[in-house]
Amino acid sequence: MDITPLSPGFGARITGMRLDGALSSDALNELRSIIDTYSLLHFPNQDMTDDRQLAFTQLLGSPEAEHVTFGTTGQVTYFGTVGNIKDDGTVADATNARYQSGNQLWHSDSSFRETPSYVSILHAYEVPEEGGDTEFVSMRTAYERLSQKEKEEVDPLFVLHDYVFSRSPIAPVNPNHAASLPPVMHPLVRINPNTRAKNLYIGSHARSIVGFTGIESRALLDRLLVLTTKAEFILTHRWTPGDTVIWDNRCTLHRGTGYDAARWRRRLRQTRVVGNEKGVIPQAR
Ligand SMILES: [Fe+2]
Repeated sequence: MDITPLSPGFGARITGMRLDGALSSDALNELRSIIDTYSLLHFPNQDMTDDRQLAFTQLLGSPEAEHVTFGTTGQVTYFGTVGNIKDDGTVADATNARYQSGNQLWHSDSSFRETPSYVSILHAYEVPEEGGDTEFVSMRTAYERLSQKEKEEVDPLFVLHDYVFSRSPIAPVNPNHAASLPPVMHPLVRINPNTRAKNLYIGSHARSIVGFTGIESRALLDRLLVLTTKAEFILTHRWTPGDTVIWDNRCTLHRGTGYDAARWRRRLRQTRVVGNEKGVIPQAR
């Protein structure tokens, strides 16, 4: 395996490793370690299929049930298609583009779930010639840049993450889907269990800070988001077919840059691995 770092402490390009279910346990341990170190991994030229991707995903842990399908129909599926191509190969209509526009907000996948995601795995099959990039920022280096006073301010706080809140400016959420995802409380500062490195845990699903008024909540969460997503901290991934990208949802944010869905085909397949740190769903009274 060859590792080329992309920026100090964040992002790496990896060659010499084939991502499928045949990965050795040594290679898997090394992969887990470089996820902890770099947070964002780009593997070019992967000969991927859905079967290989699912087998590889299962090596890293439990695949996460895709929440839109599960929430609306109760069926468990493990793949989400990012882009505008339906399963039958035809181009989806504008409704799909509207729903996927939520991906253009900075977020951590599944932060709104009781047990959020460890990593997302996204493989590119068809990509636009213009647009459709994915941008990433490290929430670990963002935490490190805070002053000591700011760290002490954020360290003890808890945040409610809420999918219905984050989708409220975009499109209505199906009632069954909404009911499947009650708001969940996570610490504002997470700690990597292996390296003990701290990071902020925010993004579009972060609705409010426990014990703060709404105005105070939005002021702090919005300020942190602006601080952490400045242009100089962004790594932009320009997709090429055959790319597999893995990112650590515990300590990164990402967003899509948008593209002309009426002009280009875009088809990427995503799986996620369930994390092992559980948030708290406030009890109804
Ligand atoms: Fe995402």
